Amino acid sequence: MFRTGFLGYPTTFMLDFVVCALALVVPLLLYSLWLVKARRQYRSHKRLQITLGIILLAAVSAFEVDVQMVHGGWENIVARQGLEDAALTAKLNSVRPWLLVHLVFAVTTPFLWATTIVLALKRFGANPVPGPHSRLHSLLGWASTLDITLTSITGLAFYYVAFVQ
Ligand code: HEM
Repeated sequence: MFRTGFLGYPTTFMLDFVVCALALVVPLLLYSLWLVKARRQYRSHKRLQITLGIILLAAVSAFEVDVQMVHGGWENIVARQGLEDAALTAKLNSVRPWLLVHLVFAVTTPFLWATTIVLALKRFGANPVPGPHSRLHSLLGWASTLDITLTSITGLAFYYVAFVQ
């Protein structure tokens, strides 16, 4: 059951699952920022950011194990499209740069996200309200937001060129 995708393309369950998670994370993040900036609901923002971090970490870890260990790499998933050898090689070479750009953002995001959360938990304390940590948190928060948004956009773009097109 978990060996095939559910979005209608020749992929895997976990690949489609992570693509959905990446598409969902940006609107949820915007909602979290609206909670802070418009509603001043800092506790809800904190809860949502931690939940998003845990879900993303779990989804991406499960995805990596699935792609690398179960399917033996993304190239083997592209090979499901039944292309002839030369066409498959050409396709792999043409989509690889898209993956490399995606990886720049995908690899840096967890570090930035973890730093933002750990420092916020330490410095805002149990009852988060604006304070001395606000300046640095703002910087880290917007950098994390930009990084995850670019991870999402480039991830969806890679999915499109590698598995849909
Ligand atoms: C990766 C996770 C997080 C991201 C991306 C994030 C992002 C942001 C952003 C972009 C802002 C708005 C800054 C501005 O005014 O321009 C903000 C504000 C705030 N966040 Fe977070 N946040 C995260 C986690 C947390 C956590 C875990 C806490 C609490 C422990 C927290 C508490 C706050 C507070 C109190 C503010 C208001 C700061 C102020 O207005 O001075 N955030 N966050």
